[in-house]
Amino acid sequence: MAVVSCQSLQEETHNDIQAMSKDQHSFAKPQKVVIKHLDLNIEVDFEKKSISGNASYDIQNNGSNEVVFDTRGLNIEGVTIGEGEQETSFELGEAREFLGSPLKVDIKENTKRVNIYYSTGKEAHALQWLNPQQTADKKHPFLFTQGQAILTRTWIPVQDSPGIRFTYNAKVKVPKELMAVMSASNPQAKNETGVYEFEMKQPIPAYLLALSVGDIVFKPVDERTGVYAEPSVIDGAVYEFADMGKMLDAAEKLYGKYQWERYDVIVLPPSFPFGGMENPRLTFATPTILAGDRSLTSLVAHELAHSWSGNLVTNATWDDFWMNEGFTVYFEKRIMEALYGEDYVDMLSVLGFQDLQGEIDDLGEESEDTHLKLNLAGRDPDDGMTNIAYEKGTLFLETIEAQVGREKFDVFLNKYFETNAFKTITTETFLEYLDNELLQPNQINMNVDEWVYGPGVPANAHAPVSERFEKVEVSINRFLANYNPSELETEGWTTHEWLHFVRNLPDNLTIDDMAKLDEAFGLTNSGNSEIAAAWFEKSINNNYEVAYPKMEEFLIKVGRRKFLVPLYKGLAKTEEGKKLAKEIYSKARTNYHAVSTNTLDALLGIES
Ligand code: BES
Ligand code: ZN
Repeated sequence: MAVVSCQSLQEETHNDIQAMSKDQHSFAKPQKVVIKHLDLNIEVDFEKKSISGNASYDIQNNGSNEVVFDTRGLNIEGVTIGEGEQETSFELGEAREFLGSPLKVDIKENTKRVNIYYSTGKEAHALQWLNPQQTADKKHPFLFTQGQAILTRTWIPVQDSPGIRFTYNAKVKVPKELMAVMSASNPQAKNETGVYEFEMKQPIPAYLLALSVGDIVFKPVDERTGVYAEPSVIDGAVYEFADMGKMLDAAEKLYGKYQWERYDVIVLPPSFPFGGMENPRLTFATPTILAGDRSLTSLVAHELAHSWSGNLVTNATWDDFWMNEGFTVYFEKRIMEALYGEDYVDMLSVLGFQDLQGEIDDLGEESEDTHLKLNLAGRDPDDGMTNIAYEKGTLFLETIEAQVGREKFDVFLNKYFETNAFKTITTETFLEYLDNELLQPNQINMNVDEWVYGPGVPANAHAPVSERFEKVEVSINRFLANYNPSELETEGWTTHEWLHFVRNLPDNLTIDDMAKLDEAFGLTNSGNSEIAAAWFEKSINNNYEVAYPKMEEFLIKVGRRKFLVPLYKGLAKTEEGKKLAKEIYSKARTNYHAVSTNTLDALLGIES
């Protein structure tokens, strides 16, 4: 293949993407050649911190002489074509920021199989290699992957676009004392060989490929659901997630049959950068939702709901991210309502609405990033993945529901999931579907375009109210009117009420006020990660340094970005605070996944 200069390669690639594919974040040209099935055969080496092996693809070739894969930081050792493994030439293009390099493989017009031999490099951002100290049991190392949005290409050469679905089988060799699990059919016990085989029969996009390796054990919750975790974590996790089966039943009753057979959750070490990740058949979850009282399980409902919105009906590009997350938050709340009632969900809605307002304040009222439909061309998709997709997305759907009534909306959503199962959807296709199937038949005139292509929150938003929170607000006001904390009616408050209480305390309290609350309610020492994180944020804003040692401990242990960003950001507002933030970060950084360090390096102005 001719060597092209960086400049012209970029232009060529850019034009190709424009012409051939609407996904700006993949080099693949699926109209020419698209992958249909992956056979992955890899070995996980904890010593070298590398995965190596081969990825063999069955392809659908529409008569092209070239197939293009996405890669980032991979060492490509060789490529062969056909069952007979004929050597072929390939070219790894110039690396582009976020996107990595296109791997262009020469094939024949009748080529049906491509085998890529590779190993991961130093900068495999999907992977987090943990040493024993960074796990719960501190005995064995651990590895997990995080693919969404465009990180799967850092550990597997693949057509890494949410619009491209394929089935996969995998064979994974790991050290004998460890077990491997994937977003596929999974083992429930270790075996002696350290070799595990997996099958994912339903076609999925690359961002849902996932692997965890560690000292992992399994316990069932019921016939269809169960939990994976380190030995010391498993019993608590089984207790916490006791209602998983009921959630699954409720979800099926709402929007149709669960298409993925089993539903399990793996509780990962605390450095996992997200609350949860909807890897099919096996949700990856942070241990910070193990509150001990089952109060943070809406996260499980959320990841489960993705089994329909996201995994079954998938956003076509990352510009359509709200199609994944907005629908999922809506669905999550419907599951929680079915199990725990309306007043529970009203609390979730108000908290979500506050998150939305906070996000709009941060981004700016007129920011294009407050549109539901995003324009992430030339940007890391991760930058656009804010609360807007989640909270404005669900608010849009709730506003439609309020207009047509729940009954009709549910019929519509059932049909939506059925019609679009195992397909991808753009915002535009959805809007057309919405208009034809729901709005026109019911003669509803809605400002749909304002919601989707406009900034902020439209005036007709179905704003949430919570009676239980109104009582919390009474307590806040009493405290501000100098009542003693013991005189506030906090009895029977759940996590969400405490969260509302802490979040809505003003930012000009005296140290004495903060200390009074802390003494009465043990907030600095709260074992509930949500309450603790909200309290630490309040402590920063009110200069309540008593909480700092605990906060530092939290920041060193927990890698969940949602908690980290507000705390580091809060600290960085003052010179002194920024110094402390950098000090803590220098100790904590090795415990964070690349997803979190990417954000925090930028936030604290640290060269990575
Ligand atoms: N799919 C997301 C996580 C994600 C989003 C990963 C964007 C990479 C890029 C997952 O379903 C999610 O939304 N997790 C939330 C929890 C949820 C209850 C809102 C989280 O991690 O906080
Ligand atoms: Zn989600």
